[in-house]
Amino acid sequence: MKNIFIGSILTLLIIAIVSFIFIYSGFYNLSATIPHMKATESAIHMMKEKSIKANSKNIEVPNLDDKKLILNGYKGYDEMCVTCHAAPGKSATVIADGLYPKPPELNNKEIIEEWNDKEIFWIIKNGIKMTGMPAYGPTHSDEDLWAIVAFLNHLHEMSEKEYKAMGNETKIMQNGHDHKQGKEKKQNVHIHNDGKKHLH
Ligand code: HEC
Repeated sequence: MKNIFIGSILTLLIIAIVSFIFIYSGFYNLSATIPHMKATESAIHMMKEKSIKANSKNIEVPNLDDKKLILNGYKGYDEMCVTCHAAPGKSATVIADGLYPKPPELNNKEIIEEWNDKEIFWIIKNGIKMTGMPAYGPTHSDEDLWAIVAFLNHLHEMSEKEYKAMGNETKIMQNGHDHKQGKEKKQNVHIHNDGKKHLH
């Protein structure tokens, strides 16, 4: 019994020392151009799915069918997400090409339908560690982020023409509401200013 105990401790110690040597030597290549091994990729994929589902399960979903909310979501998506996730008629930029893992195209029905509203909200608010997916929670209100979730429920059905048309509708809506929004919410000022730059 005593021997088994000492044997286990020694094995753990050897594993810890070998792991340390492996990390300290710099042998592992962190380059974003070298894909993970299949087994590592499967483990990361499972962890991502299980973690997001478990951490988002108690989130309460507000009413997402409001037209104004969806238009606000369009604006948020067009300004903050297209760079990496593309949109109908808009390709992702070189930033997305160089990322590993690659950001998926969110107008792809199969990809977006993998997640429910709670999970999408959680992803946008918290980001995904060790990927290029940023957390927007530290800089944006929940209301702004729910708007993007509301919009994402419709993105996969949109043609290039419809996407453009929604952009025009958003501009019209924004021109009517500029001052009110700026006064009501400090956090909106940032988006509102970006929007202005974008318009002129
Ligand atoms: C700098 C690039 C970048 C930006 C900007 C970005 N994302 Fe991502 N996003 C990623 C990457 C990379 C992943 C994939 C992570 C992975 O495969 O684990 C991802 C994953 C996601 C996913 C999960 C999809 C899936 O199946 O993996 C959602 C939903 C998402 N992003 C929404 C958004 C939204 C909404 C915005 C804008 C508010 C946004 N992202 C902005 C890089 C980005």
